[in-house]
Amino acid sequence: MSMDRYYLLGRSGLRVSPLSLGTMTFGKEGTYGGPWGSTEDVSRTLFNRYLDAGGNFVDTADLYTHGSSESLIGKFLEERGDRDRVVLTTKYTYNATRPGDPNAGGNSRKNMLRAVEASLKRLRTDYIDLYLLHTWDRLTPAEEVVRTFDDLVRAGKIRYAGLSDVPSWYAARAQTWAEAHALTPLINLQLQYSLVERSLEHEYAPLAQTLGMGITTWSPLGAGLLSGKYRPSEAGAQGEGRLNSAIGGHQLGLFTERNWRIVSTLEQVSKELGRDMSQVALNWVATQPGVGSVIIGATNPKQLDGNLAALDFRIPAELRRQLDEASAPPVPFPHGMFSNPYQLNLHGNAAVGDKPAGYSQPVFTGAAPRVG
Ligand SMILES: NC(=O)c1ccc[n+]([C@@H]2O[C@H](COP(=O)([O-])OP(=O)(O)OC[C@H]3O[C@@H](n4cnc5c(N)ncnc54)[C@H](OP(=O)(O)O)[C@@H]3O)[C@@H](O)[C@H]2O)c1
Repeated sequence: MSMDRYYLLGRSGLRVSPLSLGTMTFGKEGTYGGPWGSTEDVSRTLFNRYLDAGGNFVDTADLYTHGSSESLIGKFLEERGDRDRVVLTTKYTYNATRPGDPNAGGNSRKNMLRAVEASLKRLRTDYIDLYLLHTWDRLTPAEEVVRTFDDLVRAGKIRYAGLSDVPSWYAARAQTWAEAHALTPLINLQLQYSLVERSLEHEYAPLAQTLGMGITTWSPLGAGLLSGKYRPSEAGAQGEGRLNSAIGGHQLGLFTERNWRIVSTLEQVSKELGRDMSQVALNWVATQPGVGSVIIGATNPKQLDGNLAALDFRIPAELRRQLDEASAPPVPFPHGMFSNPYQLNLHGNAAVGDKPAGYSQPVFTGAAPRVG
C-alpha cells in the first residue's frame, strides 16, 4: 500500500486513499485550535503536501476550530483549483453557532439541513462527497437521519453518507432501514481506533464488514501518545505536544500503566523494523479488519511526511502478534461465548475455525474487492 493506491470505501464505487488527512487542527480558534491548532500558513502547507503526495481523502467537521477548518479548506481548494479530485468529508451535529437554540445542534432533519448549507458556504463548494452525522444525540430516530441524507443526495448537495461515534445498534438500525426502503446506503463509520483504543473490534468491525460500511479511524496515534515522544514522569508524562497542553493526556485518560506497556512494546517492534513508532502504529491500524482508511493528524510537515510513509512496509506476523497481545482489549459479554470452548460445545465438537478473539467470521459475501 502507498499513496498512489486508492481503495473502495464500504459497499460503494468511491475510491479513497488508505490514509486520510485529518484537519481538526487547522486554525487557531476554539477548543481544538486554542491549545493544538496550526496557523493558516502551516495548515496550507500540510494540505498541499498531502494532496501532492497523491492523497485524495480529507476529513473535517463544522465543529472544528469554530468553522475555521472548513473555511481554510475551502480557501485552499479554491487556490489549487482541483476540488473535484478531492473526496471531501465533513460532519454535522454540534451546536457551535447558536448556544441555547435546541434545534441548532443535534442530529435532527432541521439541524442537518441548516448545517449542510453552512458547511457548503464555508467550503466554497456546491457538494460534499461524504457527509457524516458526527455524534449520536440520543434523541433523533435513525429513520429521520437516513431519510434526510437521502434527500440531500437527491438534491445533489452530498454524494455519500455515513455515521461517526454512534452505538453499533444504531448504525445497524440505520443501515437496515436504508436497505429496506431503498434509501441511500451508509458507506462509512468513523470511529476511534488505535493500539490503545481497540473497543471497536467486538461490534463495529464485523458490523461494518457485514453491512458494507468502510471504517475510517480517528486518533490512530492516541493523540500522539503512540509516537513515543511522551515518557512517564512523576507528574504524569514528559514530552512536547498536544497531550501536555490544557486538554491533555490526563483529561483523556491516556497516561495509564496499560498504555505505557503498549508504548514500550511498540518501541521494541519499531526498533526491529527500523521504522518510526508512529509509522508502525498507523500501519497496524490500516491493516486491521474492516478499516477502509486511517485519518492521520499532523501539526508540522515533518510529522506528516513520516506518517505518509507509514504504509510502505509490512509488519511481519510475529511482530504483529506481539503488538496484538500487548494491546489486547478486554472481551465484553457476550463475546467471550463466541470462541472455544463454547463454540466447540455448540457445534458438537465439529471443527470450528480459529479466529482472533473478538472477530466474527467474515460473513459479508457481497464485499467489494480492494483494488489498486
Ligand atoms: N469523528 C470524531 O469524533 C473525531 C474525533 C477526533 C478526531 N477526528 C478526526 O481524526 C483526525 C485525526 O485525529 P487525531 O489528530 O487525534 O489523530 P492522532 O494521529 O491520534 O494524533 C495526531 C497528533 O499526534 C501528533 N503527531 C502526529 N504525528 C506525529 C509524529 N510522526 N511524531 C510525533 N507526533 C506526531 C501531533 O500532535 P502534537 O504535535 O500536538 O503532538 C498530531 O496532531 C482529526 O484531525 C479529525 O479529522 C474525528
